[in-house]
Amino acid sequence: NTVESPMNHTKYNDIISTLPRQENVFGPLLDQYIHEYQGFWFRTSLLENIMSVQENFIPQPNDIIICTHPKCGTTWLKALCSAILTRTQFNDFSSNPLFTKSPHDIVPWIEISVQRNSELSLFATHIPYTSLPKSIVESKCKIVYLSRDPKDLFISIWQFVCKLRKEAIPLETAYQYFCKGINIYGPCWDHILGYWKASLEFPERILFIKYEDLMNDTCSYVKRLAEFLDFPFSAEEERQGLVQKIVNLCSFETLSNLEVNRNSLENSATGALKIENNAFFRKGKVGDWKNYLTAEMGAHLDQITEQKFSGSGLSF
Ligand code: A3P
Repeated sequence: NTVESPMNHTKYNDIISTLPRQENVFGPLLDQYIHEYQGFWFRTSLLENIMSVQENFIPQPNDIIICTHPKCGTTWLKALCSAILTRTQFNDFSSNPLFTKSPHDIVPWIEISVQRNSELSLFATHIPYTSLPKSIVESKCKIVYLSRDPKDLFISIWQFVCKLRKEAIPLETAYQYFCKGINIYGPCWDHILGYWKASLEFPERILFIKYEDLMNDTCSYVKRLAEFLDFPFSAEEERQGLVQKIVNLCSFETLSNLEVNRNSLENSATGALKIENNAFFRKGKVGDWKNYLTAEMGAHLDQITEQKFSGSGLSF
């Protein structure tokens, strides 16, 4: 990782010191500040990595990149894509690595560690479309983007950050920041819109999915994902019920109850920020925002969403 070279460390920090910054109120404790870079907010240590990735990441033509704003279901999509892509590698379905490894250990984040896993050309990132390394944008790599209703996304991120910080951040405070787009990788609307527009422009390269749709009909999306990734299910595989097996393996119920996801600490995949695997599994439901936000707060977030997405053809 080239950030580790002292010269680059200084170079990136010199740039970061010129950027608008805010106290990191609504993010993990590791960094004191978040910085606005290319229209989005990043915590200091990750921003250094992102600058390095922008300069140095070289994809292979058949790499697949899972892209998300945090808390849109990345863990789920990592599990689904890896299960789809590795399905012929194991004679026995029960030897799938998902039974013993966290999805985050199977699919690395490019902004944290770009070490290649020899079996799988699958990576993930939260980097917004407009800040992706040019090498990815100009490549033939396929991108799968998972989006989510900003109301549920907000509750998920707020709960996650409270858990990481081991302190309750007042909902009102988090909400004020979120509405202004000041959260890690925010504004979520611009993040989602960037990939939405790109998916319209390059439909063969970028598949845009909503968490709510994926939840509503996971089987259809698993088939669609497999086709998009040029590895469609054969008639025989479908007869064997392989699609349903993958859906079941990657379901919230199955994954969240596996020993590895209940008790271990994510080490290799989340970098300096140590996150317990169980933090990635909370409820896995659509509409949980109703248990936390008032109707007015929900309506206000909807209004922002409608305004931001107006004319784009996208709605939640
Ligand atoms: P909630 O906090 O609403 O429960 P990410 O993986 O991008 O960090 O997103 C985490 C969100 O996805 C959490 O949402 C989490 O519970 C949910 N999630 C994790 N695994 C899931 C799965 N297998 N199926 C559905 N949702 C899942």
